[in-house]
Amino acid sequence: MATQASPARKIAFSAAQPTGQLTIGNLFGAIQNWVPLQEHYDTLFCVVDLHALTVRQDPQQLRRHILELAAIYMASGVDPRQSEVFIQSQVPQHAELAWILSTFAQLGELERMTQFKDKAQRHRHNVNAGLFTYPVLMAADILLYGAHVVPVGEDQKQHLELTRDIAIRFNNLFGPVLQIPEPLIPTQGAARVRDLQYPEKKMSKSAEAELSRVMILDDDATVLKKFKKAVTDSLGEIRFNEDAQAGVTNLLTIWCAATGRRQEEALDHFSHNMYGKLKVETAEAVNAVLGPIRENYRQLMADPGELERILNQGAERAAHRAEKTMVQVMDVLGLPVAGRRMRAGV
Ligand code: TYM
Repeated sequence: MATQASPARKIAFSAAQPTGQLTIGNLFGAIQNWVPLQEHYDTLFCVVDLHALTVRQDPQQLRRHILELAAIYMASGVDPRQSEVFIQSQVPQHAELAWILSTFAQLGELERMTQFKDKAQRHRHNVNAGLFTYPVLMAADILLYGAHVVPVGEDQKQHLELTRDIAIRFNNLFGPVLQIPEPLIPTQGAARVRDLQYPEKKMSKSAEAELSRVMILDDDATVLKKFKKAVTDSLGEIRFNEDAQAGVTNLLTIWCAATGRRQEEALDHFSHNMYGKLKVETAEAVNAVLGPIRENYRQLMADPGELERILNQGAERAAHRAEKTMVQVMDVLGLPVAGRRMRAGV
């Protein structure tokens, strides 16, 4: 099982929302980059189900999505013997710290969050307070574990900056209690995998058009079909050019992320080729990555009891770590902690 926190190792934390199936954007922008961190960091990977509640969820589906997301993490290479894999709502300290940190976040800061503005637009009938304070819960997720690094896609950068600002503000008032985290965002494009139909937008699991997004669990034929129908342009040149050729650039970027090759290699490989070949080879490269993940996923989902056992154990270990931070935070604020210290043995 997961190795105990060793003081020499730095801590990495990341998470995704169980709001539906994951796309290759989630995979190449985030999860694929979590896996190698397990060698050198103490790693925690969380299914943030409380975050998902900010948009109305069907309870049956949510229950299923939570387990499926944990299975996707593991199928993609997150190893519960090396990492804590757990569900946010099973560790009550997340919500507790979020409340405390909300008193350190300013309304103006939260109003500036582009994801809030975006979601408030899309869910006009339900612009709830949780949608607004969402980044504070995210700050709590990260700061609870003293994470040094947080591997995420580019769309989370602003939230990470807010997390840092909250932690710095807290520390300025109460001493060096909270670790200031650094975002770890992939270079070379995969930080923002784009929508296959509207390449000016990021690929999103909630995109309306099926052809817009490739899901990790799509089968080979579906992946091929989606790439074949990807929107490109009429310039007929294969090159990286985000502004004038967002679609082609996106395909090249996905090919690089799926093959582990560099941009120059992609250009060499596809020079003098037509878009058709770029599309088909990108689909093949993606299928080569997704094939084993789908197979692992099927095996993991065949034994939900074992999955739940892993998640319970992950939550127990995570809670133990989280409690140490809670006690420190509460103590410096003047809140009583003697009972908690005794109960948790921290
Ligand atoms: P979520 O669930 O939207 O996405 C999970 C991860 O996938 C990345 N991502 C992408 N990367 C590249 N291209 C894309 N098209 C793309 N779409 C998504 C996201 O950047 C993210 O890393 N707020 C977070 C969840 C969260 C979290 C946290 C993350 C809650 N607490 C603490 C890190 C640390 C979110 O909604 O991710």
